Amino acid sequence: MNMNIMNVDYSTKIPNNVNLAEDRQVLKALEGWHPGYVDWWNDMGPEGFQQSLVYLRTAYSVDPRGWAKFDYVKMPDYRWGILLAPQEEDRKIPFGEHYGEPAWQEVPGEYRALMRRLIVIQGDTEPASVEQQRHLGKTAPSLYDMRNLFQVNVEEGRHLWAMVYLLQKYFGRDGREEADELLRRRSGDADSPRMLGAFNEKTPDWLSFFMFTYFTDRDGKMQLHSLAQSGFDPLSRTCRFMLTEEAHHMFVGETGVGRVIQRTVEAMREAGIDDPTDIAKVRALGVIDLPTIQKKLNLHYTLSLDLFGSEVSTNAANAFNAGIKGRYHETQIQDDHQLKNSTYPVLKLVDGEIKRVDEPALTALNMRLRDDYSQDCVKGLLRWNKIITTAGYDFQLKLPHTAFHRAIGEFKDVHATPDGILIDEGTWAKRKGDWLPSADDGAYISSLMKPVTEIGEYASWIAPPKVGIDNKPGDFEYVKIET
Ligand SMILES: [Fe+2]
Ligand SMILES: [Fe+2]
Repeated sequence: MNMNIMNVDYSTKIPNNVNLAEDRQVLKALEGWHPGYVDWWNDMGPEGFQQSLVYLRTAYSVDPRGWAKFDYVKMPDYRWGILLAPQEEDRKIPFGEHYGEPAWQEVPGEYRALMRRLIVIQGDTEPASVEQQRHLGKTAPSLYDMRNLFQVNVEEGRHLWAMVYLLQKYFGRDGREEADELLRRRSGDADSPRMLGAFNEKTPDWLSFFMFTYFTDRDGKMQLHSLAQSGFDPLSRTCRFMLTEEAHHMFVGETGVGRVIQRTVEAMREAGIDDPTDIAKVRALGVIDLPTIQKKLNLHYTLSLDLFGSEVSTNAANAFNAGIKGRYHETQIQDDHQLKNSTYPVLKLVDGEIKRVDEPALTALNMRLRDDYSQDCVKGLLRWNKIITTAGYDFQLKLPHTAFHRAIGEFKDVHATPDGILIDEGTWAKRKGDWLPSADDGAYISSLMKPVTEIGEYASWIAPPKVGIDNKPGDFEYVKIET
């Protein structure tokens, strides 16, 4: 049987476009892993709503011109599949010591450990976010939002499958063990937490969810872009397809935060409030004040910056040299793609001051990717700020300085203001609550998190979307809640 790579085979238990039907060993390994995955989904996936019909998209093809179809599905019946972007003919390794050599279809022996580690780290983030978001269905501000949450959740589940496929197909017994471990760790668990900090934090409310999908899923986008450059072709193809799904997650975040802002400025206008920093007055309207939105942004942005690791890193250099992990838009960069003699400016702490220091570009790859990330983040902020200025308010959301609130890298041992001014411990302790969400802020936001499940209705603190999903209207029944 020669199947068309563009279309997905749904005849096997595990939908795929990698010809699993003829790859008995891997099919068996995946089928063996499947029950544990379903158990995990039932234990750690969305709380409630598992018997509800959700209007979800499922990939039926990897053709970028049309790859998804929408239909009502119960989440446990979602067809989590293995989908790789089509193989590029004669693809060459686009960077590193093997620059210009044919891309690998198998993992080179000397890079096995390094490659496996990167795949496991990426894989670990996927189920982690589902775990972090599992309580949110119960307080969804509308059926539309609930559906988007569940869409993100099932796709993160699929991304786990994507990484597990690579582990089981290409890494033998070690890979199978790692695949099991991915189901064993739990977000926030004291004994066996997820691997990265931001994925052990709580996602206590819907504003956090929107910030998470905007900022933390965007870290995922940057990582996937770098891995999509990989000389290991199956990894590259896997990541390329994941990116098409990931775009929706960030859309949910950007429009989610935008709709919160929209509702806030509308409510302030209606009430005749001129000062957006008059928090008590704004909160009396049942909407989230802009200074609190800024604090949430500060938190999620800085947690996400930590995901890029240390600014200067030999691991990053090794992964690049080896041809495993490239740069954002590697093939569009005009240079030697080996970084033999180039430098890159890195923000560092030098004699108690924040300075830019030129470092070998090879070891500064994390910093570079993080800079690319920050630039990507700015775009949404511009749109959010436009909503505020259009409503006539003089208030701007800003990304905090990279030295602010960091747990990893150059600035982890110092305190800085969101403007990047270094301050002492005492000042930090006193001012922290002005910059990061306090317990009171959290309690206020929680008080707004009342479920709205009537068709076409939206909670008081968020505006309806401008357009629905799959060209459906805002008052479409996105989730048929089973009672
Ligand atoms: Fe993902
Ligand atoms: Fe995502």
